[in-house]
Amino acid sequence: MLLALAVVVTAVIVGVAAYYIFGQAPKPQANLLEIYHWWTSGGEKAAIDALVAVFQKKYPDVGVIQSPVAGGAGYVFKSVMKSMVAAGEAPDAFQVHAGYEMKPYVDAGFLEPIDDLWRQEGWESVFPPVVRDMVSWGGHYYAVPVNIHRANVLWYNKKILDQYGIDPSTLETWDGFFAACEKLRAAGIQYPIAMGGIGKWEIAHVIEQIFVSQGVDFYQDLVNGKLNDPNDPRLVNAFNIMKKYMNYVNPDYASLTWDQAVAKVIRGEAAFTIMGDWANGEFYVAGKQFGVDYGAMPSPGTKGIYVLVVDCFEKPKGAKHPENSIKWLRVVGSREGQDAFNPIKGSISARLDADVTKYGPYQRAAIQDFKTAKYMVPSIVHGSGAPEKFASAFNDIASKFAADRDVAAACKAIIDAINAAKSDYTKTWHLTG
Ligand code: GAL
Repeated sequence: MLLALAVVVTAVIVGVAAYYIFGQAPKPQANLLEIYHWWTSGGEKAAIDALVAVFQKKYPDVGVIQSPVAGGAGYVFKSVMKSMVAAGEAPDAFQVHAGYEMKPYVDAGFLEPIDDLWRQEGWESVFPPVVRDMVSWGGHYYAVPVNIHRANVLWYNKKILDQYGIDPSTLETWDGFFAACEKLRAAGIQYPIAMGGIGKWEIAHVIEQIFVSQGVDFYQDLVNGKLNDPNDPRLVNAFNIMKKYMNYVNPDYASLTWDQAVAKVIRGEAAFTIMGDWANGEFYVAGKQFGVDYGAMPSPGTKGIYVLVVDCFEKPKGAKHPENSIKWLRVVGSREGQDAFNPIKGSISARLDADVTKYGPYQRAAIQDFKTAKYMVPSIVHGSGAPEKFASAFNDIASKFAADRDVAAACKAIIDAINAAKSDYTKTWHLTG
């Protein structure tokens, strides 16, 4: 007892002395990494967990806190993160799209340039130029890409198509696609297309792919803020296609998330959904087999075009655990990290040296398509192609259009949105080669 008492008394004396010497009781510094993202659907969660597992294997002494903010495409996350960063509460890393979405952070000086890290890791020789361009501003690198998603994908329930004798090659044009929708409707599938809309972006996502189908020169004018005629036949045509498309969409779209729409195709309640290839992650976690239960192809009119969606992480200034932030970025950009994350996520590795044997059949085909793509174009809806001001107006225009189907009003609203964001168009995309 005496010994125990002596230990306690000594501890108190040391503690009090430390308090007076250092001005406060010494606090153990927790060795943590806190990351923010919006990956909460079944496939998304499985993928980020696999990436975190690679990190934890490498750095077992670092505790990882994942702080996900639910809402596809970051429609809730984006404003949450903006306020946190502006308030000086940036985490150690957060999800951001390559391109325009990074710009407000870079402009405000909230991110650290990470050129040294890029050099140390030799990333210049493994990431393709199109991706490198999207993460560098003023000649400095500010982010590390973790993947390349494709936005322009039509997903289909293969069993339904087989049952009704629909050959996927007939879906390459909008006319062929709508003929298939009509056939399915006649056979009793009233709403063959599944779509979400709870965050509005799910609708804009479809319209974006329709825009791309109107030609890369048209899309280039759009992302460069060069469209100025509301009667531009390509613009009018695009909204007329969307009007037709809406005829076949589940009427409860406005209350559904993107993954609930994919689930309709998985369950065979709908035959089609147009969504980025993160949808593959949902088929994957549902245990469905590509080529047997489901299939995928470029959305109508976009063969040979790869609409790019690139997720990244970065090193925010003032991160609480700057060394762990860098460790995380090393894993994010590594071959091992990317080859753990992307086979589940549905995307392909952003690196050109991916181990293809780790990927399933959809992604092997995507890797091939990426290599042979005639055009690569940046998604607007997923942060890269156009200023944020336009992208957010586009979501509103899309959701209004889905409800009122007023083509002339939507065309005018697009031109107005471009004009309103005019001074924010600081990038000139050269997409037509
Ligand atoms: C995209 C993001 C993808 C995917 C999707 C749905 O914006 O780049 O990684 O998760 O949203 O949440």
